[in-house]
Amino acid sequence: MKCTMDTCVNLQKEETVNWISEPELNDGNQLERLEIELLLEAIHSRYGYDFSNYSPKCIRRRILHFLRQSPYPAIADLIHPILTQAPFFQKFMQHLSITVTEMFRDPNFYQEIRSRVIPVLRTYPYIKIWHAGCATGEEVYSMAIILKEEGLLERSQLYATDFNHHALILASDGRYTSETVHQYQANYSLSGGKGLLTDYFTCSKRHLQISKELKSNIFFTSHNLVTDSLFGEMNVIFCRNVLIYFNSDLQNRVLNMMSESLVYNGFLCLGAKESLCSYPHAHFYHTTSGKIGIFQKKHAIPPF
Ligand SMILES: C[S@@+](CC[C@H](N)C(=O)[O-])C[C@H]1O[C@@H](n2cnc3c(N)ncnc32)[C@H](O)[C@@H]1O
Repeated sequence: MKCTMDTCVNLQKEETVNWISEPELNDGNQLERLEIELLLEAIHSRYGYDFSNYSPKCIRRRILHFLRQSPYPAIADLIHPILTQAPFFQKFMQHLSITVTEMFRDPNFYQEIRSRVIPVLRTYPYIKIWHAGCATGEEVYSMAIILKEEGLLERSQLYATDFNHHALILASDGRYTSETVHQYQANYSLSGGKGLLTDYFTCSKRHLQISKELKSNIFFTSHNLVTDSLFGEMNVIFCRNVLIYFNSDLQNRVLNMMSESLVYNGFLCLGAKESLCSYPHAHFYHTTSGKIGIFQKKHAIPPF
């Protein structure tokens, strides 16, 4: 498969995040690297979260951003409050885990789901879909809406997972600010949605509450892609805009896990800036919709 700048996982961009500029990045000195290492080791030992295989640039940016908003002058000063004050650690975790998302994000991706993935799913008596890194739930509800419109929701089971507990609570609540409605409606229409998105919500002046029916086939649970294993055979796996934060070793490990979990002909859905181009087992996938991040498993992949 030909690898281009467009199709490779790009570890440096996530548009909505206010990261520091590249020249500033080059100033990272040895002491700072050591402080970051010690901080991440402390978090791993105390709480079990392992960030050692995340993209160093992303991690550094997020830590520096957090530091600027904290009362502390140096990264090393964060270690003690992170180890001893649970609320401070929670705040830090929220900062490290970027939960930017939206309903029908990248509408052309969802057009492709409707035209290419749904016809295959229609042939199955029972459909299992895993949304890994679901953030606050907009992605899994978008898929549930499509399944409902295609008459497939009743025979589908959706699993929505994330390692960010706060995001998972918001996801299972399914309550969003009404300010998002215009953007989400525009995305939905562009994705091929025919009706009004608000038909799937109870609307108040300030909030949109997702309908009980859409929630009923979704199971929300905590899952850490770094430390946890797969949890079943899936027909479709969404892991969109998550790999972008990992280094290539961790990307490959996660892709191996997902490849093991996918059934033959199953679909792997990645983000617009992610692809399989540096994945050693990419040849086990069809890439007809590769540009918008949909890959179909074509062979039984040998055990890793
Ligand atoms: C940018 S959001 C993507 C949300 C959604 N998939 C989308 O594309 O709109 C990335 C999500 O990945 C989650 N994440 C990051 N590292 C993770 C890990 N090790 N295990 C599980 N989720 C993780 C974050 O908590 C965050 O909610």
